[in-house]
Amino acid sequence: MTTEAIRRSQRLNQITHAPHEQLDKAVKAHAPFETLASYCRFLTAQYLFQAELKTLYTQPLLIELMTDLPERCRAEQAKADLQDLKASIPDPVTGGVDAPSLAEALGWLFVSEGSKLGAAFLIKRAVALNLSDTFGARHLGEPAGGRAEGWKRFVRIIDDLPLTPEQEHEIDRGAVAAFERFNALLQHVYAPTAETEPA
Ligand code: HEM
Repeated sequence: MTTEAIRRSQRLNQITHAPHEQLDKAVKAHAPFETLASYCRFLTAQYLFQAELKTLYTQPLLIELMTDLPERCRAEQAKADLQDLKASIPDPVTGGVDAPSLAEALGWLFVSEGSKLGAAFLIKRAVALNLSDTFGARHLGEPAGGRAEGWKRFVRIIDDLPLTPEQEHEIDRGAVAAFERFNALLQHVYAPTAETEPA
């Protein structure tokens, strides 16, 4: 047995394993690929999450660490997806990420970027609804430069950053908070009053 420390990204994977399982179950419970109405709600949650994170994807200090950060944001793709399906663009929902520290922001971005891995599975299901990376499911499409490559580059940057012990806690907190937020948005869009039906 070696006592070598695990990489930061591995620790993030470990601490978000249970929230990810739970979210995966919650998404599947709503069967977003069974009907277009359910898909529109799921897409609305994705749009809201990405729209909230736009402030992080465009933050100069974070772009200094990751030069391609703005292109990684999927808010515009999710918006175009909503427009493809003639679904309304939702107003912001209170409780989104608010002025996180740099390390906390990286935790949120870790979750958003990681969700592109699951998207590889989801886009295959979206085909049944006649959706694709050019219509209605753009936000689940393969990122420019490749899904696996983009993730590897992101993880390498996260792993190589010098962080203080306090910042290590902050990045963990950010990742956990991001899962909580997606959950809250999922509940919001599937609440009976949510106006997310296609026109
Ligand atoms: C908002 C955040 C996230 C959401 C909504 C999400 C959603 C999902 C869903 C629904 C699946 C199941 C796909 C299927 O079986 O058809 C999935 C799978 C997957 N997700 Fe996520 N995910 C998120 C974040 C992450 C993160 C942070 C990572 C990695 C660090 C990740 C990695 C994966 C991988 C590798 C799979 C495929 C195989 C597996 O279940 O392990 N996801 N995700």
